[in-house]
Amino acid sequence: MAGYPDVMDKLVSLCKRRGFIFQSSEIYGGTGSVWDYGPLGVELKKNIKDFWWNAMVRSRDDIEGLDAAILMHPRTWEASGHVAGFTDPLVDCKQCKARFRADKMDPKKLEANVCPNCGNKGTLTEPRLFNLMFKTHMGALEESSSIVYLRPETAQGIFVNFLNVQQSMRQKVPFGIAQIGKAFRNEITPGNFIFRTREFEQMEMQFFVEPGTDMEWFDQWKAKRMQWHFDLGLSPDRLKFHQHDAGELAHYARAAFDVTFDFGGTLGDQEIEGIHNRGDFDLSQHQQYSGKKLEYFDQPNNKRYVPYVIETSVGADRVTLATLVNAYREETVEGESEGRVVLGLKHSIAPIKAAIFPLTKKDGQPEMANRIVDDLRSAFAVDYDETGSIGKRYRRQDEVGTPFCVTIDGQSTSDQTVTVRDRDTLVQDRVDVSQLKGYLAAKLVG
Ligand code: GAP
Repeated sequence: MAGYPDVMDKLVSLCKRRGFIFQSSEIYGGTGSVWDYGPLGVELKKNIKDFWWNAMVRSRDDIEGLDAAILMHPRTWEASGHVAGFTDPLVDCKQCKARFRADKMDPKKLEANVCPNCGNKGTLTEPRLFNLMFKTHMGALEESSSIVYLRPETAQGIFVNFLNVQQSMRQKVPFGIAQIGKAFRNEITPGNFIFRTREFEQMEMQFFVEPGTDMEWFDQWKAKRMQWHFDLGLSPDRLKFHQHDAGELAHYARAAFDVTFDFGGTLGDQEIEGIHNRGDFDLSQHQQYSGKKLEYFDQPNNKRYVPYVIETSVGADRVTLATLVNAYREETVEGESEGRVVLGLKHSIAPIKAAIFPLTKKDGQPEMANRIVDDLRSAFAVDYDETGSIGKRYRRQDEVGTPFCVTIDGQSTSDQTVTVRDRDTLVQDRVDVSQLKGYLAAKLVG
């Protein structure tokens, strides 16, 4: 069976043209693998983050939210193992200056010292370990004692706050802490648009459990997180689990599965989320490095222990890219010569829910359309557009995934009805203006 098509180049162009995603500092030639979200992109990503927050925090009473700082005490990163171990083996070609991760190279080429880029022999340097954490200085003096790191994962902000959250919220194990926030990695080989970047957002949850119950919880979270991706609208046949074997496991992990998504083309199946059993690695390390006890006291059973942690960690940018790739389609419309590009986004995450068009710029139609916009704005993100033919306006909205287009025509001003066109079925309903908000609200659920 042929794989999914490569739509990345088309998406990069659509995202720029339609205000989803721009290269960071573009007028200066861009910052390496850093991206800015434009007006529609910020709405899309926010909707995805809200979808996660609702599923993980709002709809449960055993998970609390947190927003920890990016800059943490530098000892955090010694305790977590990142100072010593968060490294990639870097290889340079002295001839063409290309840079590679030795662990991602063809072992035969590495062994024979052949550059995968220019093909020269004997021009590769020995692999050397490169730490992926960005360093900066806190305070006025740039000396080694003032070094701080931009966090490479949000998780550590959760571990160091384990007891603060447990005690202030009177939570009992098992319970979780969730947060959404920026993380930074000085990746050697970033790329594929927002797939691997140097500044990105993570949505992470650490679930604290009694040792011995960890694998049971691990299995539960694995299933729940896969279901979340289905619910987000990602096509089930593009999603898979990938189990890490012993050689692949991160330094903190006892067991790990990735959720992978098939991005199509040569990128293919790639990790979008990691689900890890971190055991008591992090809490024990922080106990040791801080000298502060991070134990849980199980009062009814009169026992103390350091909980084990099941972690679910999904990249907000990576899942946004998966959502865009999944939603992108090109199709022909019966009776029309021009094809259309559609982002078939799930309604609840579409950046604009309804677009309102007056058919003409006269006869009171723009005024009526603006009254409708004002009314709907309190409930949904809406857009007003009066330029170009109706066909062109539909195409513009299809391309950004707007589920409904509302048209005000000659009949509307006399009988107070409008047409509502469905992005996917193209069916047009005539709806009374007084019913419009309720009509859209009912259709936009899900
Ligand atoms: N706390 C565990 C952790 O950080 P990870 O597998 O390194 O685990 C989790 O990262 C998720 O974060 C990945 O599945 C991916 O979605 C996202 N992610 C990691 N590095 C990224 C990068 N350079 N650019 C974009 N997203 C990234």
